[in-house]
Amino acid sequence: MEQHGEGKFNKMAKKAFFITIEGLEGSGKSSVINFLKNSLETDGFSVRFFREPGSTYIGEKIREILLDRRNKELSKHTELLLYLAARTQMIEEMLGNSLSKYDFVVCDRFFDSTIVYQGYALGLGAIVEKAVKLFALGVNPDLTLVLDAPPEDGLKRVGIKDRIESRPLEFHKKLRRGYLQLAKKNPRRIKVIDARGSLEDIYAQAEKIIKQKMKSSKKRNKPR
Ligand code: TMP
Repeated sequence: MEQHGEGKFNKMAKKAFFITIEGLEGSGKSSVINFLKNSLETDGFSVRFFREPGSTYIGEKIREILLDRRNKELSKHTELLLYLAARTQMIEEMLGNSLSKYDFVVCDRFFDSTIVYQGYALGLGAIVEKAVKLFALGVNPDLTLVLDAPPEDGLKRVGIKDRIESRPLEFHKKLRRGYLQLAKKNPRRIKVIDARGSLEDIYAQAEKIIKQKMKSSKKRNKPR
């Protein structure tokens, strides 16, 4: 029988150190991901990158539906299910296997986005946590970096706003509170980075956290 939740991917030989990057709109995730790409590859590690929702052909189609501002009728539960659908597609088609092949797998957003955006800020609550665990198919990040800054800062940087970015400021303020609460609940896995400073400062914080986490982790990836 198919396994879910504590699912099939945690039974696989997981080699990769799995890092997820989270934060509000315009918080600088892309810059941090580019930095990680350069620094990890320069150090000789094999790295595979993903983004959520997306990364697969089907996931990118789902992303278009989710972010299209014309989809005003999209209900909260449909939104939740579409994010979960994009994630399971990515895990089953690509990410699951990548975890057994690469030294590092880095994902721009993962299930914490669903917990914070749909669970906390949209108010879908406890069902989200259950659904998220179930449809992550046993995949759990080793480390999650949350880029924290006031929502006003990031929203200023966003050009044409998509369906989620166009939500009222109060929604984005709730997201920030949601991430900080989630980090408090999961202090070993989730580390908050102060994203108000210069890019150099943000990169330095990210690098320090990753090094510390790897030192304390059983999985001490060595460059090839
Ligand atoms: P991005 O623009 O950072 O790539 O993310 C796409 C948008 O989707 C962003 O507004 C956050 C939102 N999102 C959710 O609401 N729930 C989720 O589970 C994920 C992965 C993203």
